[in-house]
Amino acid sequence: MTVDVRPLTQTDLLRELQPVVEENLERHLTVAKEWMPHEYVPWSEGRDFDGILGGEAWEPGQSKMSDVARTSLIVNLLTEDNLPSYHHEIATVFGRDGAWGTWVHQWTAEEGRHATAIRDYLLVTRAVDPVALERARMTHMGAGYESANHDDLLRSLAYVSFQELATRISHRNTGKITRDPIADQLLARIALDENLHMLFYRNLLGAALEVAPNQTMRAITEVVKTFEMPGHSIENFTRKSVQIAMSGIYDLRIHRDDVLAPVLRAWGVFDLEGLDAEGEAARDELSALLDGLDQAANRFEEKRDTHHEKMTARGQTIERI
Ligand SMILES: [Fe+2]
Ligand SMILES: [Fe+2]
Repeated sequence: MTVDVRPLTQTDLLRELQPVVEENLERHLTVAKEWMPHEYVPWSEGRDFDGILGGEAWEPGQSKMSDVARTSLIVNLLTEDNLPSYHHEIATVFGRDGAWGTWVHQWTAEEGRHATAIRDYLLVTRAVDPVALERARMTHMGAGYESANHDDLLRSLAYVSFQELATRISHRNTGKITRDPIADQLLARIALDENLHMLFYRNLLGAALEVAPNQTMRAITEVVKTFEMPGHSIENFTRKSVQIAMSGIYDLRIHRDDVLAPVLRAWGVFDLEGLDAEGEAARDELSALLDGLDQAANRFEEKRDTHHEKMTARGQTIERI
């Protein structure tokens, strides 16, 4: 590998990272275990719905889930549903040739399992309104998804490293808050996949830091600055994400301490030596961003505690993880 003296083009980067993609693809295929989504769904609980088959219509009383568990499951499912758009984004930036292309298709196939399994579970157990769910899927997919980082390889790699870990935690915690061991088991299995995806991308960006440290440092800072969850374009996402944060499924503290911090630590960004002035400036900015996030997370936690206390005094409780 060569270390950057001039900014590397997208083509240079794709070429430089090709051997790392090959190596990590091989590793991934060795450690990723095949699993069957149908095994995780309690089919015996299922029955026909109204409409064509004249079965029983869905009613809220059929759902055993709390409101926040439902919200979180729907957000996670709709996020997974937008896979065609994500595939388009990564196929555009990574290309479909060689190991890059093999990874794009492997990743897409693995992600495809997630929406299938969650939807089957939700419909069979009547956990959510199937009509509202289908309409939400149409609206969400109809809007598509465009990454703020598309056409930039380094930013895309930084984004997916964080995003896969964020998704892992979000699935894992959603599983816990369902209070249903079957849902928990399914979401824990999906979370394992997301963890392997995170490792793949994290290793790639780690290699990019060696090839083009200053460019990569800037890319990381920009991604941390502008990070949005992949499902941010879901209808009423703000309201839903507040509900999710209030329950501790995914909040600023988790984002900063359990998503950004461990990935940045694995890259060793604060121990890197030999950055030029631009690289140093990007790192300083990153450090300030993390401090800002820490303060914002503290403020949110205080507000949340106060809110929970008020609710408890009124005899109401918010489901918390
Ligand atoms: Fe997924
Ligand atoms: Fe994933």
